[in-house]
Amino acid sequence: MKNFEYWNPTRIVFGKDTIKLLQDLIPVEAKILITYGGGSIKKNGIYDQVKDALAGRTWLEFGGIEPNPTYETLMEAVKVVRKELVTFILAVGGGSVLDGTKFISAASNYIGDDPWDIWKNGAKFENPIPFGSVLTLPATGSEMNSGAVITRKSTVEKLSGGHPSLFPKFSILDPETTYSLPQKQLRNGIVDTFMHVMEQYLTCPMNTPLQDRQAEAILKTLVEDHQKMMQSDPADYDARASFMWCATQALNGTLRSGVVTDWATHVIAHELTAFYGLAHAETLAIIYPALIQYKGEHKTEKMRQYLERIFDLRGLSDEETQLAAVEKTKKFLHTLGMPTQLNDYGINPDEAAQKISQRFAERGWKLGEHQDILAEDVRRIVLAAA
Ligand code: NZQ
Ligand code: ZN
Repeated sequence: MKNFEYWNPTRIVFGKDTIKLLQDLIPVEAKILITYGGGSIKKNGIYDQVKDALAGRTWLEFGGIEPNPTYETLMEAVKVVRKELVTFILAVGGGSVLDGTKFISAASNYIGDDPWDIWKNGAKFENPIPFGSVLTLPATGSEMNSGAVITRKSTVEKLSGGHPSLFPKFSILDPETTYSLPQKQLRNGIVDTFMHVMEQYLTCPMNTPLQDRQAEAILKTLVEDHQKMMQSDPADYDARASFMWCATQALNGTLRSGVVTDWATHVIAHELTAFYGLAHAETLAIIYPALIQYKGEHKTEKMRQYLERIFDLRGLSDEETQLAAVEKTKKFLHTLGMPTQLNDYGINPDEAAQKISQRFAERGWKLGEHQDILAEDVRRIVLAAA
């Protein structure tokens, strides 16, 4: 097991009817900015619940944060925070609203020229605006981590960034907020959660039996219960609650403790979103099977453990193990109704491989648990996802 530090200051408030507890969670004297997305919270009653909980408080709102939140929109919110002297931000939405709020938090008191430098070049910032969240879409883990992925339209970039000062102060997780999610978003959330676990689990053995079993617990829960989690009209409260907690646990720092992590799929997949606009989970489902097929020889031991413990499949040769790990993963994705090929979206594989690998050639990034995935490997992986 590797040395590690684990620190997670986010207070989680979980369960039915918990939005009303906002009264106790946000400092009384705060001037609050509520951030949200394209309006789902106004249709499903969550906005009203938040408004009721904040009765008597000083607040204003900023809506319109889009999926894959953009620098361009978020800078408009930064203007509001600066002009109105906002002292607390409340994000109400999915990963995009939460991530966008982290950017707004970091950018508002940034004294350099352009807050994009925080994401692009790791520029230092001070006095981030404190924020909390009401999560409405289990998927990203952003509600209990300090990372955020921001898109810049003008330069066609989608970059991950983060800082220990960007953990939410609290996150309210009420499973009933997920009842209005369309099937596609439920599917995307399950896939993103699954992939967060795989990126930290399917690497190389590190003698970490606890972390392995924590990861497997999430994978097994998703594989066994995905149908119940996606059930609507009526939704199954306990299955939604379980899904919500799986998503949070998958990316709150627990699983990465003491192990080596991969994350190459996420980094490559972000480029697919930047160039072609696909949803985050859709891009992961395209790249991941191709990547583990390409790097199978380096992942065989963990693939064997994955097949045994998640799918009860034993006694395979190395080659059979590598094939079966790809096939079982794809099959699970297909069961969820998730496409796994570039062709499913009409994307030209040669063009995508060229554009994306070019990005990595320019950046000189080395990806994967062995830092051995270079631009040429990226090209081959994207082609393999044709
Ligand atoms: O914008 P509104 O109208 O709210 O609608 C949203 C949006 O259209 C809708 N939605 C959310 N909650 C709903 C709902 N619709 C009905 N009922 C509800 N309760 O769902 C759509 C997608 O929302 P979005 O927030 O974009 O989805 P998600 O949570 O999957 O977030 C994706 C973003 O998070 C980043 C992704 O790259 C992407 O930009 N990620 C962030 C991570 C992190 N911070 O740690 C890690 C992830 O790997 C990921 O990269
Ligand atoms: Zn993800």
